[in-house]
Amino acid sequence: MKKPRGIFIAGNWKMNHGVKETRQFFEQFRRLYDSSSSHLQARLADHSLKAALFAPYLSISAAQGEAHGMPIHIGAQNAHWEKSGAFTGEISGAMLLEHGIKSVLVGHSERRQYFAETDETVRKKTESLIEQGLEVILCIGETRAEREAGQTEAVLLRQLSAVFQSAQSPAVRSLGCGLVLAYEPVWAIGTGLTASPEQAEEAHQIIRRFLSEKLSPEAAEMTVILYGGSVTPQNVTALLQCPNVDGGLVGGASLKPESYIALLHGAVELLPHP
Ligand code: 13P
Repeated sequence: MKKPRGIFIAGNWKMNHGVKETRQFFEQFRRLYDSSSSHLQARLADHSLKAALFAPYLSISAAQGEAHGMPIHIGAQNAHWEKSGAFTGEISGAMLLEHGIKSVLVGHSERRQYFAETDETVRKKTESLIEQGLEVILCIGETRAEREAGQTEAVLLRQLSAVFQSAQSPAVRSLGCGLVLAYEPVWAIGTGLTASPEQAEEAHQIIRRFLSEKLSPEAAEMTVILYGGSVTPQNVTALLQCPNVDGGLVGGASLKPESYIALLHGAVELLPHP
């Protein structure tokens, strides 16, 4: 099947896996990776399948060390928009870069819900982190109440418009390279209620249409859009078969090595054998 943008399987560990558990994860993951198919290893090596794990800050060093030699990227779950300053408890993009971290999640619904992030702070983070050269995975999605009120499209367009304010913005300029979008319906996160492939495809089409109309059809075509919300090895194939779903942002099912590698196996089967 044709996946013109490849497939990206990103695991968001959230506040799970300290250093000890991170080491245990990779010890087992390396064994599974070493005995996995040559197709999986080759597609990871040629980047048509991209794998990343977004670890808690304190586990990042351990994850980087343990992942050494395997094509698994390690990312961070959040960063401040300023490079340094009086922002107690925060980490800057510059600090991530110094640490060899090149990818960061921005605007996850848990950050919006529990840590008062707004469309405006999400915009500031996205612009600043992209300007600094980080790859940003920008998360958007509607709540259950919003979906039930028929507001899904309006919410997605509002969240997107907040970030893509002008054609000159860094977010716009980096479409297709430094910016990945993740559609994560809040009602599907950690609930076991996955969006159906039809619901996911519909939302991804809304996002791609926005990018095409607001920016350019080329930028829209190049942009990787992930789906997140109760993705499992059982449902990943059906979701990835949607033409506009380019990968998954996975919470619970990325925590165990055997289920994370099962997600990669499910994904790679959709990529052609050369
Ligand atoms: P779950 O896969 O546990 O539903 O989490 C999704 C998510 O929030 C990934 O960022």
